[in-house]
Amino acid sequence: MRIRKAVLPVAGLGTRVLPASKVIPKEMLPLVDKPTLQYIVEEAVEAGIEEIIFVTSRSKRSIEDHFDVFPELEQALERKGKLKELKALRHVQTMAIYTSVRQPVALGLGHAVLCAKALVGNEPFVVMLGDELVAPETPCLQRMMEIHEKYNGSVLSLFTSPPELISSYGIASVQDLESGVVQVSQLVEKPPLEEAPSDLAVAGRYILTPDIFELLEKTPQGRGGEIQVTDAIQMQAEAGHCYGLRFSGVRYDTGNPLGLLTTSIAYGLRDPAIAPGLREYMRQVLQ
Ligand code: UTP
Repeated sequence: MRIRKAVLPVAGLGTRVLPASKVIPKEMLPLVDKPTLQYIVEEAVEAGIEEIIFVTSRSKRSIEDHFDVFPELEQALERKGKLKELKALRHVQTMAIYTSVRQPVALGLGHAVLCAKALVGNEPFVVMLGDELVAPETPCLQRMMEIHEKYNGSVLSLFTSPPELISSYGIASVQDLESGVVQVSQLVEKPPLEEAPSDLAVAGRYILTPDIFELLEKTPQGRGGEIQVTDAIQMQAEAGHCYGLRFSGVRYDTGNPLGLLTTSIAYGLRDPAIAPGLREYMRQVLQ
């Protein structure tokens, strides 16, 4: 079945980037001239997603506003002849269908995904974390969709974690199926290094089959009172319905201050209008 919907959970508290994220959602912090989240929506649309489902919270209204129409601004841009800006604005509003649902309390990623149950319905869907970017030149969603089509299960994107970060991620135990494709037999959330089944960490892109909702409903609150999506995916893995893509492309984590800054520099260096000035600035400060 073709995957049409992407769930973007953006209801977390963003405590690692406070105080920047107190009023501005961390997913709306800018990289060059766009909020982080816009790059993620563009990645989804590029992979053929038609409907974006935001899981938001009361302090994140600016997310829905950013993807909505703004008639006064459009009229002002038209009057001033700023047609390039107008076109960019309209593109954001029309590139997908946007819906949203509230997560009343930030009870974890699994709970956020469960909040989207009614909007997703009975079809496979993508989940994309709102603080993780995949470089446009190394996309992974399309390949994950192909793996889903062939093996008909959930698909995770997996990357090799350095040992010191293993205890920060969900870690997978896998068997190789074909080049770059694995079957996932076990998942452990944030294990100590000595208990980790491998060094393959779960990245912020998932394809989930709709039985995940029933499994999430049965998943008890774990560490920190949160419902972890990994615990529900573990049940799919045990039943033999979970696969993985060994992803060797470039990912960026914008959920912490250093990651946010380095991602800004990476995207600045990619932008032909910004790159020469940025390079010159870096040359000056580094000499
Ligand atoms: P994170 O764990 O990175 O986000 O979740 P967080 O909880 O906001 O960040 P810190 O740890 O306090 O700094 C990854 C994504 O899942 C969303 C977040 O908004 C983020 O985009 N999320 C997380 C939810 O939507 N609901 C939750 O309950 C937790």
